[in-house]
Amino acid sequence: MDQLSERQFAERRKRLLAQITDGAIIVPAGHLSARNHDVDFKFRQQSAFWYLTGFGEPDAVAVLRPGHSEPYTLFVLPRDPKLETWTGLRTGVDAAKERFGADAAFSTAELETELPKLIADYEKVYYAVGADQKLDAFLIDLAVKRRRTAPRGDKALTALIDPMPAIDQLRLIKSAVEIECLQKAIDVTVAGFDVAFAKARPGMYEFEVQADMEVEFRRGGSPRNGYPSIVASGENACILHYISNRDRLKDGDLLLIDAGAEYEYYSADITRTWPVNGKFTPEQKDIYELVLAANEAGIDAAKPGNGATDVHDVALRVLTQGLVDLGVLKGEIDTLITERGFLPYYMHGTSHWLGLDVHDSGIYRTGGRTGPSIKLEPGMVLTVEPGLYFGPFAEDAPERFKGIGIRTEDDVLITDDGNRVMTSAAPKTVAEIEAAASGG
Ligand code: GLY
Ligand code: MN
Ligand code: MN
Repeated sequence: MDQLSERQFAERRKRLLAQITDGAIIVPAGHLSARNHDVDFKFRQQSAFWYLTGFGEPDAVAVLRPGHSEPYTLFVLPRDPKLETWTGLRTGVDAAKERFGADAAFSTAELETELPKLIADYEKVYYAVGADQKLDAFLIDLAVKRRRTAPRGDKALTALIDPMPAIDQLRLIKSAVEIECLQKAIDVTVAGFDVAFAKARPGMYEFEVQADMEVEFRRGGSPRNGYPSIVASGENACILHYISNRDRLKDGDLLLIDAGAEYEYYSADITRTWPVNGKFTPEQKDIYELVLAANEAGIDAAKPGNGATDVHDVALRVLTQGLVDLGVLKGEIDTLITERGFLPYYMHGTSHWLGLDVHDSGIYRTGGRTGPSIKLEPGMVLTVEPGLYFGPFAEDAPERFKGIGIRTEDDVLITDDGNRVMTSAAPKTVAEIEAAASGG
């Protein structure tokens, strides 16, 4: 199923050009990165470049020129049979025009001669300084040259402006096709979790469970993960981004898996935590139910008109109250929140945007760290992922909770009248979790 067609990418470029009207826009693709000797890390296109072009090869550069009758130019790696024999077929200059909708296309070897001509009439250039070392140096050099020749009639290049806030803003509201892709990524991920629930048993290595789960991702049509899977048994769950996945599951352990298959470049992001032997201990269950209550309260707050940060505030209040009720924290709830007394047990945010990137682009507040929250709108997708961690650094934790790490993470689409929990097919209540973990 190939859901994203050139039509959608063209629409995105059109929308960006409607927003940025006073300068040329330059967006670079990613580059290969050496792993060792002549072996590179597997390439995955930069998301902003992909969002605008749908072009998956490295080293390309997209140029958009507002007000121009042929606004879209692509620089791409040229055909090279000798190299392509080793590293794969390239699109090349001609097909970049035919298949990717470019009004003009050049080889990347022509960038130095053609780019200055393309942007000669623009005093402002929208380019994210720092995005590409070669382009950084090239554009600064070009600004110096044009300053020198401006007195004789050239246009000076007076401003390099970051286009990312405008691109991020477009990415924040997902179209119907993007939501379909995200749902597909999520459905595939849930199927992988089902396998992990069914297969994880005491004695297995974390990476074995990971392999079983990821086989299901691949079978479901996902070519890669949106981020490295976190498969964390026992106290490893208290290391938030534990990805070594090399320990053995023990009887009595919880297993926390945080994973997301990617589909058409869109990533799921799901976390479930369950008892490896199929039955929560009373202490594990107390913490599980508290995290679940925070997750549900956070989801209830994820609706149009509420602030994105309200989701965190609501979930945090539930967690803090629960920690007091369980005797982990002492004091007034408001004071514990303002003085951040919860930090030994809850040290991350509850939500982030989700899309092409697992921590997708887009701001959460305007006007600085204490500024007002972005209001939630239909089409936004965010995670709701409270957790509690009684790990090696939580020295004052009651003995009975030590070693427990639990997170429950759902992906939520904001709709006109509330939200849709896109991950609702994954087991979540205590009964559902225990049934799934016992193979039922
Ligand atoms: N998988 C990383 C996160 O949940 O934010
Ligand atoms: Mn997340
Ligand atoms: Mn996650």
